[in-house]
Amino acid sequence: MKVDVLLGLQWGDEGKGKIVDVLTPEYDYIARFQGGPNAGHTLEFDQKKFVLHTIPSGIFRDNVLNIIGNGVVIDPVVLKIEIEKLIAVGVPVKDRLIFSKKAHLILPSHRLLDAASETAKGKNKIGSTLKGIGPTYMDKTGRNGLRVGDILEPDFKSKYDTLVEKHVGILKHFEGFEFNLAELEGPWMEGIEFMRQFTIVDSEHYINKVIKSGKSVLAEGAQGTMLDIDFGTYPFVTSSNTITAGTCTGLGVPPTKIGKVIGIFKAYCTRVGSGPFPTELLDEVGEKIRQEGREFGSTTGRPRRCGWIDIPQLKYAIMINGVSELSMMKADILSVFDTIRICTHYNVNGNITDEFPFSICNQSIEPIYKDVPGWNCDLTALHSYDNAPMELKQYVSLLEELLEVPITIVSVGPDRSQTLKTKH
Ligand code: GDP
Ligand code: IMO
Ligand code: MG
Repeated sequence: MKVDVLLGLQWGDEGKGKIVDVLTPEYDYIARFQGGPNAGHTLEFDQKKFVLHTIPSGIFRDNVLNIIGNGVVIDPVVLKIEIEKLIAVGVPVKDRLIFSKKAHLILPSHRLLDAASETAKGKNKIGSTLKGIGPTYMDKTGRNGLRVGDILEPDFKSKYDTLVEKHVGILKHFEGFEFNLAELEGPWMEGIEFMRQFTIVDSEHYINKVIKSGKSVLAEGAQGTMLDIDFGTYPFVTSSNTITAGTCTGLGVPPTKIGKVIGIFKAYCTRVGSGPFPTELLDEVGEKIRQEGREFGSTTGRPRRCGWIDIPQLKYAIMINGVSELSMMKADILSVFDTIRICTHYNVNGNITDEFPFSICNQSIEPIYKDVPGWNCDLTALHSYDNAPMELKQYVSLLEELLEVPITIVSVGPDRSQTLKTKH
């Protein structure tokens, strides 16, 4: 079978965790292929709410195995806390979770480097989640990193010491940056010890055998396309490939084995951290979206920046990812508006375009809007798309026309059950 992919089309937090959880019963395996504890994927069901950072969002379902692929970066401290919380509520994590030997480890000194680098950047900071993501991927591409497989080797500690020595040397160059590495190392080593009890495999072999045997796999993206290291709003991006291509490198799945690509977007748009955001609303409308949508980060608690939906941006993301179907999230949040705005084009220095431009950071981009009527009614108790208000159906049809991809899911609330399938 082929590997289906589910990923975010905006700047993250589109609702990936919720939809992976909804779709998990259709799959045998759920696999994360990039990112790390910078992610915060929220799942709600049976009046309970969980936020996952490193663990794939299939973990709550029986008969499904979850793989943390080679493209992921793991902080053993965050991981241990996350797993212990799941075990405490009765999730048999050990039976459902598999690690790739080739996934890289986030060291305490990577976190320090992230903080030091952000502090040194001052007002130009990326607004990173301070989880050590950038420095860890830098060590991966710099060929210095430590991997999960290394924890099973006798020379692990000496490899760790060598890398830390290098980091401490770099940290000394950040004037005034104080740190106490020793107090961070104890919990980290406990995390490493904890990880040793889990199944650790050559995941590229494992996953290809799974595919060959006819089992189904859903690859779960983290972050979003506009945070992709190559195609996002650089330099205000994360340090991994968040796009469909990242599935191939982050799991060892060949491109010919990619099946459906499910792209997720909010019915509006948000971003957390620094960087350009063409449709951002700095007025009371943006504040209303933030309050209605409870737009505060799942990982850091920071307020998310809010704006209207951006078609040039979404078209770009659909093109890069080869999206075959769409899920539109948080339709219920727009119920408070009489009129909803859709950015169809940009005015870039007098040129009207629907192409996402290169130098988005350095020039003024004026969104051109089309206004459409809102639905002005509560959607959260809807159980069938057939009963959805006409204005919502018109909004969905218009987006399908503009984006040229079918919207197969419309989400009307955070709970697993608040999910409408539009096509039969
Ligand atoms: P992810 O990182 O893409 O998994 O998304 P997050 O979990 O960071 O953020 C999405 C937030 O929206 C979470 O708090 C979800 O519980 C919530 N959510 C998801 N879908 C819906 C929806 O359709 N309506 C509402 N009101 N909330 C939703
Ligand atoms: P999920 O998977 C939203 C943002 C940070 C910052 C930039 C770089 O929950 O959608 P990093 O810590 O990766 O070096 O930060 O990327 N960012 C996210 N924004 N959702 C996420 O993940 C994010 N992960 C990173 O805010 O702007
Ligand atoms: Mg999130």
